[in-house]
Amino acid sequence: TKKIKVALLGVGTVGTGVYKLIQRRADVMVRTIGAQMEVSKILVHNLNKQREGIDASLLTDNWQEIVNDPEIQIVVEVMGGIEPARTMILEALHAGKHVVTANKDLLAAHGKELLDAAEEKHCDLLFEAAVAGGIPIIRPLKQCLAGNEIDEVIGIVNGTTNYILTKMFEENMSFEEALAKATELGYAEADPTADVEGLDAGRKVAIMASIAFHSRVVFDDVHTEGITKITSDDIAYAKEFDSVIKLLGVAHNTEGGIEVGVYPMLLNKEHPLASVRDSFNAVFVHGDAVDDAMFYGRGAGELPTASAVMGDIIDVARNIEYGCNGRISCTCYRETPIKKFDE
Ligand code: NDP
Ligand code: HSE
Repeated sequence: TKKIKVALLGVGTVGTGVYKLIQRRADVMVRTIGAQMEVSKILVHNLNKQREGIDASLLTDNWQEIVNDPEIQIVVEVMGGIEPARTMILEALHAGKHVVTANKDLLAAHGKELLDAAEEKHCDLLFEAAVAGGIPIIRPLKQCLAGNEIDEVIGIVNGTTNYILTKMFEENMSFEEALAKATELGYAEADPTADVEGLDAGRKVAIMASIAFHSRVVFDDVHTEGITKITSDDIAYAKEFDSVIKLLGVAHNTEGGIEVGVYPMLLNKEHPLASVRDSFNAVFVHGDAVDDAMFYGRGAGELPTASAVMGDIIDVARNIEYGCNGRISCTCYRETPIKKFDE
């Protein structure tokens, strides 16, 4: 059986899930793709950390061992942050390797540069896990809904804040305690300020708006407000009005341009997004042909996120087997003005 060798950059919450799924799906991949997938190296920061269930002989802290290994065809970046992730992805693409990433920070700031590099080298660069964890939303926007003029994408796209708000509403838990639990469960970013200040949701909105509106929306275009100013009085007030507070990401393509923002909103309990609890996310899309479509599922965590990464890895592997990489990765941008949020 042919082998497809994969390198993981990072084996934290998401990387561990991906490692487990690659083992779990090995037999199915041999049957469906005709190739044996193998994790051949794992880049980490700290070689001395104890890692249960991970083959320690695969660990390295030397990127050159990965990028210069001609047998590695797929690089899976699940370490996070801008650098060194950006440089490593560019170097991997320049070396002709296909890349799968879950890194929304990087895509929301440097997406075009990375997609251009992938296009130039006819490599895949896939990032389904970067928005809304396990929910399929990148492919639906890019492919399944491509027959539409999309004018609206709205949703709950951060699991940590949705978990915190759920616990504050339903169990009267303090913000601090709920954040600590979300961190323990692997939902929060390395710096959870990104979650609670709405930055992580803002990055996801920028990525979705870029794809849905065939434009180039970066994080700096997104107006962001988080949940740190929500008090117990706000929660009591919301309850009095039979409502909940949700952190929403909103993107509209209007005649005046694209408008993108993240802010907490009071929603009546009857509203479909009001019932999205815990670390679940949900995204509404409106298109001129499909009308309304809604996507719902786990927005964060080890296996839900690994599920999305794994789907991308399998797509790349299938493309390798059929010799058709680099066909669906790239978004063609057209210029659409971005409106200031309060204009
Ligand atoms: P973790 O902090 O749990 O894991 C990060 C991993 O990357 C660790 O193994 C760490 O090494 C390694 N790493 C970090 N920096 C470096 C470096 N400079 N060189 C080598 N290795 C490095 O992060 P997550 O798994 O939670 O997140 C990974 C990515 O996935 C991020 O981009 C995140 O935004 C994204 N994501 C996360 C989700 C989640 O639910 N957690 C959901 C969707 C996307 P070491 O173990 O030695 O410290
Ligand atoms: N910290 C992110 C969240 C991880 O809570 O939604 C998933 O992108």
